Amino acid sequence: VLLSACSGGGSTSSENAAEGGGSGETVTLKVGHTLADTSHYQEGMVKFQELVTEKTGGSVEIEVFPNGSLGGERDMIEGLGVGSVDMVLTSTGPMSGFVPEVTVVDLPFLFRDEEHAHKVLDGEIGTELGKKVEDTMGVKTLAWWENGFRNVTTASTAIEKPEDLKGIKIRTMESDIHMDSFSAMGAQPTPMAFTELFTALQQGTIDAEENPVPVIMTSRFYEVQDHLTMTRHFYNPSLLLMSQSKFDALTPEQQTAIEEAAKEAGVYERQVVQDMEKQYIEELKGNGMQVIENPDLEPFKAAVQSVYEKYEPQFGKELIDEIRNTQ
Ligand code: PAF
Repeated sequence: VLLSACSGGGSTSSENAAEGGGSGETVTLKVGHTLADTSHYQEGMVKFQELVTEKTGGSVEIEVFPNGSLGGERDMIEGLGVGSVDMVLTSTGPMSGFVPEVTVVDLPFLFRDEEHAHKVLDGEIGTELGKKVEDTMGVKTLAWWENGFRNVTTASTAIEKPEDLKGIKIRTMESDIHMDSFSAMGAQPTPMAFTELFTALQQGTIDAEENPVPVIMTSRFYEVQDHLTMTRHFYNPSLLLMSQSKFDALTPEQQTAIEEAAKEAGVYERQVVQDMEKQYIEELKGNGMQVIENPDLEPFKAAVQSVYEKYEPQFGKELIDEIRNTQ
């Protein structure tokens, strides 16, 4: 469903355009994400572009930069403050360096399924976490989107139980919880920006990685990884963030349009993730991956209990229980 998404390097009038929010000129906003132009992020972005055009009568234009062409997620989050990018779609992993409170949602095996996660993120807890991001970083939280449930891939070892991860050098996101979880499962976590990952796997400097199925497929990790185990160990939500100054420079009507479009496109994007997951497991097999679809997850859950012991004092047991008990 790719329309006019820009692959980078296009001209933009965002510096002066956002200032002219009420002046009748077209405002162009640059959005960056790290995934391929065949990914769920990009499909969501194309929908967002269409909705923003429709809802603003064309007075706001969204220019999309996929493939990390504006930098890795951490770089782009920093870029919101200095104006190198106007909006970023980022998973919560790198947020641990900015707003650690928000990463409560990154705890391993916290969510039962997508529906559970959506209930929490679209409800009071998600709104509060979004506000925390706004208060701490001075950026606008537009909506919760989705990267998906993460699964382990490896070059040569099939992972059936946590012991199989022993000593395996696995790339993780730059997230303390992600690293602690893999240490608890016996692996050697190596944090790295996504933009460096394919080459690291290809050169064998790391053995393994973990990502949702749509990422594994659209980033062609099947070319450098032979095994996939559907561990679904972290649910990985994404945040659509916007520079507060760019948001404030828009007219109230444009602001409402952007907020509505972000939420509607997020609902669409989440569906794309689920459709892609179903379809791409088969395609990954077709591309030569050995897939363990229904591993026994109980030993993996038991292995990460120490992560809860470590983080409960930081996030509060009450909040963790409230998330767990959301029906
Ligand atoms: O593995 C990651 O870094 C994330 O899953 C990604 C691909 C950047 C999407 O947010």
